[in-house]
Amino acid sequence: MSKNNQTSRRQFLKTSAVAATATLLATGGVHAAGGDTIKVGLIGCGGRGKGAAENVLHAAKGVEVIAIGDYFEKDEDRGIEPARDFLLSLNNNARVKELGNKVDLPKDRCYVGLDAYEKVIATPGVNYIILATSPGFRPIHIAAAIAAGKNLFTEKPVGVDGPGIRRVLEAEKESRTKKLGIGAGTQRRHQTGYRETMKRIHDGAIGHIVNARCYWNGGAIWFRDRREGMTDLDYQIHNWYHFGWLCGDHIVEQHVHNIDAVQWALGNQHPVRALGMGGRVRPYKNANVDGNIYNYFAVDFEYPHNVHVLSMCRQVNGSDGSTDPRHVSGISEALVGTKGMCATADRREYRITGNKTWTFSPEDDNAPYVQEHTDLIESIRKGEPINELQNVAESTLAAIMGRMAAYTGKAVTWQQALNSKLDTMPEKLARDMKLEAAPLAVAGKTPLI
Ligand SMILES: NC(=O)c1ccc[n+]([C@@H]2O[C@H](COP(=O)([O-])OP(=O)(O)OC[C@H]3O[C@@H](n4cnc5c(N)ncnc54)[C@H](O)[C@@H]3O)[C@@H](O)[C@H]2O)c1
Repeated sequence: MSKNNQTSRRQFLKTSAVAATATLLATGGVHAAGGDTIKVGLIGCGGRGKGAAENVLHAAKGVEVIAIGDYFEKDEDRGIEPARDFLLSLNNNARVKELGNKVDLPKDRCYVGLDAYEKVIATPGVNYIILATSPGFRPIHIAAAIAAGKNLFTEKPVGVDGPGIRRVLEAEKESRTKKLGIGAGTQRRHQTGYRETMKRIHDGAIGHIVNARCYWNGGAIWFRDRREGMTDLDYQIHNWYHFGWLCGDHIVEQHVHNIDAVQWALGNQHPVRALGMGGRVRPYKNANVDGNIYNYFAVDFEYPHNVHVLSMCRQVNGSDGSTDPRHVSGISEALVGTKGMCATADRREYRITGNKTWTFSPEDDNAPYVQEHTDLIESIRKGEPINELQNVAESTLAAIMGRMAAYTGKAVTWQQALNSKLDTMPEKLARDMKLEAAPLAVAGKTPLI
């Protein structure tokens, strides 16, 4: 951990702007265009960060990973040290060699600490940032990367509360002015089966959609115990899934994928209102130890024209997600239209029934985690960059809205979620600060803020 790890949100944004100007001066412009080499800076070196770095190296020719940053030097198999070893080993990977790509990571381009993201963004030559930290930091990191004029691949979700999403939507406008390429980790949008399905839905294969459902019902998520010597902040970042300000709860962190698929089917509309419930089965005594997330949610999202979408998500071992392919899968979406129905599910057949029956086998699917980078890089090189930030921000806010409804017991409108004043990010962050976790929400008592 860096000793100079004290910073506030305002400082974050101020120093980002300074870093942005410095970078522009140092590099004389930062866009990758035409046949330019894509020079990747990775922020957040855990499971997905390492995976995304490998994916981008498999996605196109002319890709180099040249800077990485993480809060931890080493946290089990996460952090700078294990990530650097893993990424350097990719120089021997057959596909990476075939494409002529490389990992070039001298130790002085591997940054540790809360300010590591600024150093990655300011590294001369970096023109493609990958964000894969826990989601609570995402709005700050997105705003900083866009202020510096970098192309961006951001993991989902892109925030955990209304203030964070407002910041992302502001940055989105700036990214369009700057013509940056921005991809999001909602990889279904780059998965052949989903794309073919959506093409048919949008061409009217099932008529007008009248209602839908989406589920992510699975088993319990990991829990990482606090280790000797960890500060409160170390522990919460290490065990981030269980702390709302870092994770957003699993309806936001994970179920956003299914909500995003439904919103895509609905022509990228967002809900107008949500009403829902949720709760926790995991033992809970002290939020500072046990965390403060729920283990299940069920939400009715109302979309324009009175279209209702039932959303369910669960992380409870031993529950039935149904593995019978004739029925719903634990991770799935389904749409009912005026002329037919459509069902999509994780690693199952995509199916349209009704007027125009059609199926697509998951065996014919592609590798969406690679494809999302291929699509982004091609668009940047063509000079017609794709920008997925608004869609992922709106899917994230829909999920936040569902969580707000379940936590408070109130019907929550889109405007209430978007204009929410509940900023869950601590005002100041320092490694050795005392950091109290918020208590578990109780419907009917937790206020709608
Ligand atoms: N698209 C997908 O299918 C998919 C799959 C898995 C994870 N994800 C997303 O990827 C993100 C990361 O998930 P993961 O499974 O890799 O988690 P992880 O715990 O394995 O890794 C997170 C890493 O981020 C680092 N980190 C946290 N805060 C940081 C900060 N402020 N600055 C720098 N580094 C910081 C941690 O130290 C850790 O190394 C999450 O948003 C998750 O939702 C997406």
